[in-house]
Amino acid sequence: MMIEIPGLLDAAGVARLRSVIDAGEWVDGNATSGPQSALAKRNEQLVEDSAAAREGGAMVMDALGRTPLFIAAALPAKVFPPLFNRYAGGQGFGLHIDNAIRMKRGTDFRIRSDLSATLFLSDPESYDGGELVIEGAFGAQAVKLPAGHMILYPASSLHRVEPVTRGVRVASFFWLQSMVRDGEARRHLFELDEAIQTLAADRGQADPAIIQLTGVYHNLLRRWADA
Ligand code: NI
Repeated sequence: MMIEIPGLLDAAGVARLRSVIDAGEWVDGNATSGPQSALAKRNEQLVEDSAAAREGGAMVMDALGRTPLFIAAALPAKVFPPLFNRYAGGQGFGLHIDNAIRMKRGTDFRIRSDLSATLFLSDPESYDGGELVIEGAFGAQAVKLPAGHMILYPASSLHRVEPVTRGVRVASFFWLQSMVRDGEARRHLFELDEAIQTLAADRGQADPAIIQLTGVYHNLLRRWADA
Protein backbone atom coordinates (compact mmCIF):
# COMPACT_ATOMS: atom_id res chain seq x y z
CA MET A 1 0.00 0.00 0.00
CA MET A 2 1.26 3.42 -0.98
CA ILE A 3 0.00 6.33 1.14
CA GLU A 4 0.54 10.01 0.65
CA ILE A 5 0.85 12.06 3.83
CA PRO A 6 0.06 15.61 2.71
CA GLY A 7 1.37 18.55 4.70
CA LEU A 8 3.66 16.64 7.04
CA LEU A 9 5.48 19.96 7.17
CA ASP A 10 3.87 23.30 6.33
CA ALA A 11 5.71 25.93 4.26
CA ALA A 12 7.34 27.48 7.33
CA GLY A 13 8.43 24.03 8.56
CA VAL A 14 9.95 23.21 5.17
CA ALA A 15 11.81 26.55 5.13
CA ARG A 16 13.17 25.98 8.66
CA LEU A 17 14.29 22.45 7.81
CA ARG A 18 15.86 23.54 4.53
CA SER A 19 17.85 26.31 6.24
CA VAL A 20 19.29 23.71 8.65
CA ILE A 21 20.19 21.04 6.10
CA ASP A 22 21.23 23.32 3.23
CA ALA A 23 23.96 24.74 5.48
CA GLY A 24 25.30 21.25 6.29
CA GLU A 25 28.05 19.23 4.63
CA TRP A 26 26.97 17.16 1.59
CA VAL A 27 28.95 14.24 0.20
CA ASP A 28 28.66 11.57 -2.50
CA GLY A 29 25.54 9.51 -1.70
CA ASN A 30 27.44 6.25 -2.11
CA ALA A 31 28.94 6.77 1.33
CA THR A 32 26.01 4.71 2.71
CA SER A 33 25.13 2.27 -0.09
CA GLY A 34 25.52 -1.41 -0.52
CA PRO A 35 27.59 -2.50 -3.58
CA GLN A 36 24.55 -3.12 -5.81
CA SER A 37 22.78 0.17 -5.24
CA ALA A 38 26.11 2.01 -5.52
CA LEU A 39 26.08 1.07 -9.20
CA ALA A 40 22.76 2.80 -9.73
CA LYS A 41 22.99 5.73 -7.33
CA ARG A 42 24.12 9.17 -8.32
CA ASN A 43 23.25 11.83 -5.78
CA GLU A 44 24.53 13.69 -2.76
CA GLN A 45 23.73 13.02 0.84
CA LEU A 46 23.95 15.13 3.97
CA VAL A 47 26.72 13.63 6.13
CA GLU A 48 25.04 11.09 8.38
CA ASP A 49 25.30 11.96 12.07
CA SER A 50 26.49 15.49 11.34
CA ALA A 51 24.94 18.22 13.50
CA ALA A 52 22.79 19.37 10.56
CA ALA A 53 21.55 15.83 9.87
CA ARG A 54 20.70 15.25 13.52
CA GLU A 55 18.89 18.57 13.87
CA GLY A 56 17.03 18.09 10.59
CA GLY A 57 16.22 14.48 11.47
CA ALA A 58 14.76 15.57 14.80
CA MET A 59 12.53 18.07 12.98
CA VAL A 60 11.21 15.30 10.73
CA MET A 61 10.69 12.91 13.67
CA ASP A 62 8.82 15.63 15.52
CA ALA A 63 6.52 16.18 12.52
CA LEU A 64 5.90 12.42 12.25
CA GLY A 65 4.92 12.24 15.91
CA ARG A 66 2.21 14.85 15.54
CA THR A 67 0.69 13.47 12.31
CA PRO A 68 -2.16 11.04 13.08
CA LEU A 69 -2.40 9.90 9.43
CA PHE A 70 1.23 8.74 9.55
CA ILE A 71 0.71 6.88 12.83
CA ALA A 72 -2.48 5.19 11.57
CA ALA A 73 -0.96 4.19 8.23
CA ALA A 74 2.46 3.06 9.42
CA LEU A 75 1.80 1.85 12.97
CA PRO A 76 5.49 2.56 13.54
CA ALA A 77 7.53 0.53 16.00
CA LYS A 78 11.00 1.88 15.15
CA VAL A 79 11.97 4.66 12.78
CA PHE A 80 15.46 4.85 11.29
CA PRO A 81 16.82 8.37 11.85
CA PRO A 82 15.83 10.37 8.75
CA LEU A 83 18.55 11.01 6.14
CA PHE A 84 18.67 13.68 3.45
CA ASN A 85 19.62 13.57 -0.21
CA ARG A 86 19.68 15.83 -3.21
CA TYR A 87 19.83 15.38 -6.95
CA ALA A 88 20.91 17.90 -9.59
CA GLY A 89 22.68 18.06 -12.95
CA GLY A 90 21.26 14.83 -14.38
CA GLN A 91 21.69 12.80 -11.20
CA GLY A 92 19.25 9.97 -10.53
CA PHE A 93 18.97 6.61 -8.83
CA GLY A 94 18.38 3.55 -11.02
CA LEU A 95 16.04 0.69 -10.19
CA HIS A 96 16.88 -0.92 -6.85
CA ILE A 97 15.43 -2.35 -3.70
CA ASP A 98 16.19 -1.07 -0.21
CA ASN A 99 18.03 -3.29 2.27
CA ALA A 100 15.78 -5.44 4.46
CA ILE A 101 17.73 -4.69 7.59
CA ARG A 102 19.13 -1.26 8.44
CA MET A 103 21.76 -0.81 11.09
CA LYS A 104 22.90 2.40 12.60
CA ARG A 105 26.67 2.38 12.39
CA GLY A 106 28.44 2.26 15.73
CA THR A 107 25.26 1.42 17.66
CA ASP A 108 23.13 -1.67 18.28
CA PHE A 109 20.09 0.07 16.72
CA ARG A 110 18.69 -1.95 13.88
CA ILE A 111 15.34 -2.24 12.15
CA ARG A 112 13.62 -4.42 9.62
CA SER A 113 12.52 -2.05 6.88
CA ASP A 114 8.79 -2.62 6.35
CA LEU A 115 8.07 0.80 4.88
CA SER A 116 10.19 3.33 3.01
CA ALA A 117 9.40 7.02 3.17
CA THR A 118 10.34 10.03 1.05
CA LEU A 119 9.53 13.52 2.29
CA PHE A 120 9.78 16.01 -0.59
CA LEU A 121 11.51 19.26 0.34
CA SER A 122 11.69 21.14 -2.99
CA ASP A 123 8.94 22.97 -4.85
CA PRO A 124 8.11 20.60 -7.76
CA GLU A 125 8.02 23.59 -10.13
CA SER A 126 11.66 24.31 -9.32
CA TYR A 127 13.07 21.13 -10.93
CA ASP A 128 12.47 18.81 -13.86
CA GLY A 129 12.57 15.04 -13.47
CA GLY A 130 13.17 13.60 -10.02
CA GLU A 131 10.00 11.51 -9.95
CA LEU A 132 10.13 8.62 -7.50
CA VAL A 133 8.91 5.69 -9.59
CA ILE A 134 7.60 2.79 -7.51
CA GLU A 135 6.74 -0.57 -9.02
CA GLY A 136 3.78 -2.36 -7.53
CA ALA A 137 1.13 -4.95 -8.29
CA PHE A 138 -0.73 -2.40 -10.42
CA GLY A 139 2.29 -1.25 -12.44
CA ALA A 140 4.73 1.58 -11.91
CA GLN A 141 3.61 4.83 -10.32
CA ALA A 142 5.53 8.10 -10.60
CA VAL A 143 5.42 10.26 -7.48
CA LYS A 144 6.42 13.91 -7.34
CA LEU A 145 4.87 15.78 -4.44
CA PRO A 146 4.73 19.36 -3.16
CA ALA A 147 7.36 20.34 -0.59
CA GLY A 148 6.33 19.10 2.85
CA HIS A 149 4.36 16.11 1.52
CA MET A 150 5.54 12.55 2.14
CA ILE A 151 5.00 9.21 0.44
CA LEU A 152 5.02 5.93 2.36
CA TYR A 153 5.50 2.77 0.32
CA PRO A 154 6.37 -0.88 0.92
CA ALA A 155 10.11 -1.26 1.37
CA SER A 156 9.77 -4.47 -0.61
CA SER A 157 9.05 -2.54 -3.83
CA LEU A 158 11.52 -1.92 -6.62
CA HIS A 159 11.89 1.81 -7.16
CA ARG A 160 14.03 4.45 -8.82
CA VAL A 161 14.48 8.22 -9.01
CA GLU A 162 14.33 9.76 -12.48
CA PRO A 163 17.29 11.97 -13.44
CA VAL A 164 16.93 15.61 -12.39
CA THR A 165 17.60 17.64 -15.53
CA ARG A 166 16.91 21.14 -14.16
CA GLY A 167 17.08 22.57 -10.66
CA VAL A 168 17.66 20.63 -7.44
CA ARG A 169 15.53 17.98 -5.77
CA VAL A 170 16.02 17.84 -2.01
CA ALA A 171 14.31 15.19 0.10
CA SER A 172 14.40 13.38 3.39
CA PHE A 173 14.21 9.60 3.27
CA PHE A 174 14.06 6.91 5.89
CA TRP A 175 12.75 3.46 6.71
CA LEU A 176 10.61 2.16 9.48
CA GLN A 177 9.69 -1.07 11.13
CA SER A 178 5.97 -1.36 11.71
CA MET A 179 4.34 -2.96 14.74
CA VAL A 180 2.35 -4.90 12.12
CA ARG A 181 4.79 -6.70 9.87
CA ASP A 182 2.24 -7.94 7.35
CA GLY A 183 1.36 -5.21 4.85
CA GLU A 184 -2.13 -6.61 4.15
CA ALA A 185 -3.01 -6.73 7.85
CA ARG A 186 -1.70 -3.17 8.21
CA ARG A 187 -3.87 -2.06 5.31
CA HIS A 188 -7.01 -3.64 6.83
CA LEU A 189 -6.34 -1.85 10.11
CA PHE A 190 -5.80 1.45 8.35
CA GLU A 191 -9.02 1.14 6.35
CA LEU A 192 -10.99 0.14 9.44
CA ASP A 193 -9.53 3.09 11.34
CA GLU A 194 -10.45 5.49 8.55
CA ALA A 195 -14.04 4.19 8.40
CA ILE A 196 -14.38 4.50 12.19
CA GLN A 197 -13.09 8.10 12.10
CA THR A 198 -15.55 8.98 9.33
CA LEU A 199 -18.46 7.41 11.21
CA ALA A 200 -17.43 9.01 14.50
CA ALA A 201 -17.35 12.46 12.90
CA ASP A 202 -20.93 11.84 11.84
CA ARG A 203 -22.42 10.07 14.83
CA GLY A 204 -20.12 10.96 17.75
CA GLN A 205 -17.62 8.75 19.60
CA ALA A 206 -20.30 7.59 22.08
CA ASP A 207 -22.37 5.75 19.47
CA PRO A 208 -22.50 2.10 20.68
CA ALA A 209 -21.72 0.68 17.23
CA ILE A 210 -18.64 2.92 16.98
CA ILE A 211 -17.49 1.78 20.41
CA GLN A 212 -17.90 -1.80 19.23
CA LEU A 213 -15.99 -1.17 15.99
CA THR A 214 -13.24 0.57 17.94
CA GLY A 215 -13.04 -2.56 20.08
CA VAL A 216 -12.69 -4.68 16.93
CA TYR A 217 -9.87 -2.41 15.73
CA HIS A 218 -7.95 -2.73 18.97
CA ASN A 219 -8.51 -6.46 19.21
CA LEU A 220 -7.20 -6.97 15.67
CA LEU A 221 -4.23 -4.75 16.52
CA ARG A 222 -3.63 -6.84 19.66
CA ARG A 223 -3.72 -9.99 17.49
CA TRP A 224 -1.39 -8.70 14.77
CA ALA A 225 0.96 -6.23 16.43
CA ASP A 226 4.27 -6.67 18.16
CA ALA A 227 4.74 -3.67 20.38
NI1 NI B 1 15.72 3.25 -2.31
